[in-house]
Amino acid sequence: MAYIFTKDLETGVAQVDAQHKALFDAMNQLSNACEQGKGRDEIDKTLKFLSDYIITHFSDEERLQRQYGYPDRVQHKAYHDQFKMSVKKMIDEYTAGGASIVLVGEINRKVGMWLLNHIKREDVKLGAFLKGKGV
Ligand SMILES: [Fe+2]
Repeated sequence: MAYIFTKDLETGVAQVDAQHKALFDAMNQLSNACEQGKGRDEIDKTLKFLSDYIITHFSDEERLQRQYGYPDRVQHKAYHDQFKMSVKKMIDEYTAGGASIVLVGEINRKVGMWLLNHIKREDVKLGAFLKGKGV
């Protein structure tokens, strides 16, 4: 299944949207590889990309929230931290046991769905707030 960056996922903040798109692209690459039975070859690249990119992306978002005094920033950061932990857990599992089909499938589903839901529920709200601040 492809993750499509639809209009309702736009925050209206160019940098944030560009980063979200890049995350979707990475998840789609993994998803395509899985469909072709090549998920296990792709997973190393995906996890490396995710672990770096998520840290950069989350800290960029959190910086904007601090800068503009976003009222929900503590809760938002807690969501990010929880997700960073679960990505770390996936990487630990991969490092310890390699790329099992089950693990690859789980990463493929969980990461994409988390991103999709988080953007829809939290980042769009943040975007509306930032736009109100003239960002
Ligand atoms: Fe976020």
